[in-house]
Amino acid sequence: MLHILGAGSIGLLWAARLQRAGFPVQLILRNAERLAAWQDHAGQLELTDTSQQQHVSLTLNAQLPENPEPIHFLLVTTKAFAAETAVRSIRHRLSPDAEVLLLQNGMGCQQAISRQLPQHRVYYASVTDGAWRPSAHQLIWAGHGQTLIGDPRQGPPPEWLTDWQAHGLTLDWHADIMAVLWRKLAVNCAINPLTVLLDCTNGELLQLAHGRMEELSQELQLLLSAFGIPISLDILRTQLDQVIRQTAANSSSMRQDIHAGRRTEIDFMLGFALRSADQLNLAVPALRKLHTELQTYLATHGLPLD
Ligand SMILES: NC(=O)c1ccc[n+]([C@@H]2O[C@H](COP(=O)([O-])OP(=O)(O)OC[C@H]3O[C@@H](n4cnc5c(N)ncnc54)[C@H](OP(=O)(O)O)[C@@H]3O)[C@@H](O)[C@H]2O)c1
Repeated sequence: MLHILGAGSIGLLWAARLQRAGFPVQLILRNAERLAAWQDHAGQLELTDTSQQQHVSLTLNAQLPENPEPIHFLLVTTKAFAAETAVRSIRHRLSPDAEVLLLQNGMGCQQAISRQLPQHRVYYASVTDGAWRPSAHQLIWAGHGQTLIGDPRQGPPPEWLTDWQAHGLTLDWHADIMAVLWRKLAVNCAINPLTVLLDCTNGELLQLAHGRMEELSQELQLLLSAFGIPISLDILRTQLDQVIRQTAANSSSMRQDIHAGRRTEIDFMLGFALRSADQLNLAVPALRKLHTELQTYLATHGLPLD
């Protein structure tokens, strides 16, 4: 049995993918109210895969954190700011050999959960799929992306990965997942906050913020290098350019969150970058200014600053 903590867009996507591949899954919902609402719809999920023009309907089982069933494998699919608390709510249920896979964007919550679960093998992942929910029981898989999984302690790939792949699930092992997450963080820090401040699509940044992105890239490259992540300024610029061009028409996740009045993951992107720079006394004035401007923006929109 695979337990999935957080039945949002990514949690439901993985629940559907795993169940359709033949693995039994259980969603863990936050509280009795959420469980009752899920059961009122008989656990039905309507999944629309837009790129495959496919629509499927499936039933997913759900339970509460208080359920006594032991957990042998846990996927954590909450937002980054909710992950530590969510894991704490089920920690007592983890079997001694339980493995945990974290699918959060940004950085910081992964390390905190690894510290919370020192005796367990905890994997980190980078996910680039696009999924959203028109309602709690509907999921739109708007873009197929890549899922990279790795062990921050650089252990070998686990057997379950081969099993998942053999069942048709597309996900890949990466021997240096920390480098993957740091590079993704750099791209997110350079793109997401500016799309919010300028209220523009990713593609519009090329015209509206080219100079500012260059300044940010320079600081981010220094930061990554200081943390032992090998990336040249040219490669970082190229990656940024590729992401912007490939997602030109998209609204960044941070901009979407703010438009919907939802809490952002700023503290696990810019916040993490600044705390990391502070650890090494690295001067990052452009990143700091961006963070302050974004927090001012969040405050004027009545949203949490972290
Ligand atoms: N969506 C995407 O396209 C996408 C793509 C790449 C990466 N990601 C990353 O994936 C992560 C998840 O994003 P998402 O879009 O799936 O978020 P989401 O739709 O907001 O889902 C998060 C889910 O976690 C649940 N949750 C929060 N605290 C909980 C707790 N203590 N116990 C149980 N459930 C809890 C929430 O339930 P409530 O409704 O009860 O709050 C919600 O259903 C984020 O880090 C995001 O950046 C998302």
